Amino acid sequence: MSEISLLESQDTERLGARLAECLPEGRLQLHLEGDLGAGKTTVARALLRARGVQGGVRSPTYTLIERYDTGAGEIAHLDLYRIADPEELHYLALDELAERARLWLVEWPQRGAGVLPSPDLVLHLRVAGGGRAARLDSRSAAGRAWVDALRKGFDGADAAGRGPVPKYSSQVIE
Ligand SMILES: Nc1ncnc2c1ncn2[C@@H]1O[C@H](COP(=O)(O)OP(=O)(O)OP(=O)(O)O)[C@@H](O)[C@H]1O
Ligand SMILES: [Mg+2]
Repeated sequence: MSEISLLESQDTERLGARLAECLPEGRLQLHLEGDLGAGKTTVARALLRARGVQGGVRSPTYTLIERYDTGAGEIAHLDLYRIADPEELHYLALDELAERARLWLVEWPQRGAGVLPSPDLVLHLRVAGGGRAARLDSRSAAGRAWVDALRKGFDGADAAGRGPVPKYSSQVIE
C-alpha cells in the first residue's frame, strides 16, 4: 500500500476507525506524522472513538498527553508539537506510561526523537488538493500485521467483511 487518498474528513476518520478495528495484540506505537492540519488528530480521535472512548476527545496540544482507559487497555494520545527539546519528555514519566499503555498515538513524534519508544507503524499524512493523502510505513512485525489487516479492509469489504462499500470515496493507489 503506497498511498491512500482521503478526499474528505470522513475518509480520514474512517482510516482511524479501521486502524482501531485492525489493531493487533500486544503493545503498539503508532506515530502520526504530517504538517499542521494534515489530519493527525482526526485519525487519533476516530481511532479512540472506535475503541470505545465516549465523549469529547481533546487534542493534547497543551497538555502534551491525554490518557484513556478503554476496558481493553489504556491508550495514550500525545502531541509533542510544543516540545522544544526531547529532554522535556522526561517530565512525562514515559517509563510508567510504557508499562501501562497498550497503545500510544503520537503526533509530532520527531520532537521526541531518541526518547520515545520506536514505532511499530508510522502514518504519514499530507495535504493533497482539498483532501489528504496517507502513507503507512510499518516498522515491526506487529506493524506489518496491522497494515496487512488494514489492506484487506480497503480491498472492498467493510469492517465486518460484508462486501464492497461503494460510497466510500477513498481509494488505494498502488
Ligand atoms: N481528508 C480530509 N479532507 C479535508 N479535510 C480534512 C481531511 N482530513 C482531515 N481534515 C480536516 O483538517 C483539519 C485539521 O485536522 P487535524 O486537526 O486532524 O490536523 P492535525 O494534523 O492534527 O494538525 P496539528 O498539527 O495542528 O495538530 C480538520 O478540520 C479536519 O477536519
Ligand atoms: Mg493535531
